[in-house]
Amino acid sequence: MKIRVLALPLAVLAACTTGQPRTAAVAPAPPPPAAAPLVAAHAMVVSAHPEASKVGVAILQKGGNAYDAAIAVQFALAVVLPVAGNIGGGGFLVYRGHDGTAGTLDFRETAPAAATRDMYLDPAGNVVPGLSTAGALAVGTPGTVAGMVALHEKLGRLPWADLVAPAVRLARGYALTEREAAGLNRTRDEFLKHNPGNPSAYVRPGGTWRPGDTLRLPELASTLIRVRDEKRAGFYQGETARYLLAEMRRRGGLITQQDLDRYQPKWRAPLRGQYRGYDVITMPPPSSGGVALLQMLQMLAPVDVRALGYHSPAATHLITEAERRAYADRATYLGDPDFGRVPVAQLLAPAYNQQRANTIRPDGRATPSAQVTAGPGLPGYESNETTHYNVVDAVGNAVSCTTTLNGAYGSKVVVPGAGFLLNNEMDDFSVKAGVPNAYGLVGGAANAVGPGKRMLSSMTPAILTRGGRLALVVGSPGGSTIITSVLQTIVGIVDYGLDPQQAVAAPRLHHQWLPDYIDVEAGALAPAAQDTLRARGYALHPRAPWGRIEAIEVLPNGQLSGGADPRGDDKAVGY
Ligand code: GLY
Repeated sequence: MKIRVLALPLAVLAACTTGQPRTAAVAPAPPPPAAAPLVAAHAMVVSAHPEASKVGVAILQKGGNAYDAAIAVQFALAVVLPVAGNIGGGGFLVYRGHDGTAGTLDFRETAPAAATRDMYLDPAGNVVPGLSTAGALAVGTPGTVAGMVALHEKLGRLPWADLVAPAVRLARGYALTEREAAGLNRTRDEFLKHNPGNPSAYVRPGGTWRPGDTLRLPELASTLIRVRDEKRAGFYQGETARYLLAEMRRRGGLITQQDLDRYQPKWRAPLRGQYRGYDVITMPPPSSGGVALLQMLQMLAPVDVRALGYHSPAATHLITEAERRAYADRATYLGDPDFGRVPVAQLLAPAYNQQRANTIRPDGRATPSAQVTAGPGLPGYESNETTHYNVVDAVGNAVSCTTTLNGAYGSKVVVPGAGFLLNNEMDDFSVKAGVPNAYGLVGGAANAVGPGKRMLSSMTPAILTRGGRLALVVGSPGGSTIITSVLQTIVGIVDYGLDPQQAVAAPRLHHQWLPDYIDVEAGALAPAAQDTLRARGYALHPRAPWGRIEAIEVLPNGQLSGGADPRGDDKAVGY
């Protein structure tokens, strides 16, 4: 891949950007804190739903460790956050024990054995709209239950049944929040379309949901009881599997009993990098998140980002150009490492990223994405879903976990009899080289559909340490925006000294190489900064708020400070 812009040494960029004229005499300051972060002395859970955070803390208080709490939160979210919490999806988890050991668990969905590279194309070779995003063919073999069982077997302490029990209780009836009631109402027609003849519990008979209504999910409760009592077999075999396979047969899906039997979560060595004295521990492929995050941090590291000013044109230029280059690499090189060589070491080599950063123009002007590498013009993207939770327990074990159905409510298919939503994760494959998925992301052969293969993800669970001590636990949903949301949170806390609540609440920016514009949340850029960026060749694209970031920072006195994203029902709970 050849870059046609002038290549200048990174040191020149640093000198130019730190010394270049600013739009104001004083570098722009970060926004003031919106709300105080929750500070707790011992332990904390931050998740996208207050009930799930409470469940996690209750497990910690009854003697569970961070891994027990994470399992309980995962199952609770499958009930109270149907838009993204799941047992019919998958995810990635990064952990660090109080003794400093760290690892990652990949419970990503896999393509069924009958999946083929061109399964979403018509005979003329064109993508059939909607086939990879909704309905039975969009579904990958779920990984969540197998993943949680593996986590419990390796690191859990309390009995398994105690960790699933809170979710069973919630499935018998819980009060809808305003946001979730609105989400279910918005999706009503799609639930009806994709579940013909099966009146899903998510559709309110004869009306719409109101905040405070009790949502009862008796079929999901029964499935969770089977998982509680039989662990993995309660999902991948017996009654639950029969319901799932019957739905696949009815609707032309591909998952078979063999796919369910063969599904295996994987423990993978974490990726590690450094940023301003912090060690960053994050997720390797098949998520692209860790690689891209560490690449971008390397490109930022030589520059005094704080001195550029918060969301100033100079800082926005630098961060956008780092994002552009990392996402171009993502599209070209990343996929399931079990199915092809993914050049992780090369992508993370300091010399490579210095070379990448050296191509960032020192005059503050944009490098058009078409010059970073060739790619077609792409439409925007739709969905923001997925969910993230963090846990830190009283002895300092930490979990950062991102989990998903992919789109909002996944494939919208609710398994009749079993009551859980199925993912539409197959759309995270590159269904045709160069054709964007629902997030506008493109890919190539490395992420082509293949039997048993894991689809590339952007999920970026991350844990930072400093001087060998836990410092920050962070992650976000948001499809392709996940990686830049996590980046901005780390930069906000490390470079600009924001507290975690300020960092997760701050209006955000996002660039993903293609489409070639900066997504701008309201309030993220001052009008003068917008003018300057436009004059320097940047297209700005106003966008509704995205991402639901959760962050836990360990303060110098050892207390925990939690940030829960105000864009959702997210909640930090601690003691
Ligand atoms: N389904 C969103 C992701 O994995 O990045």
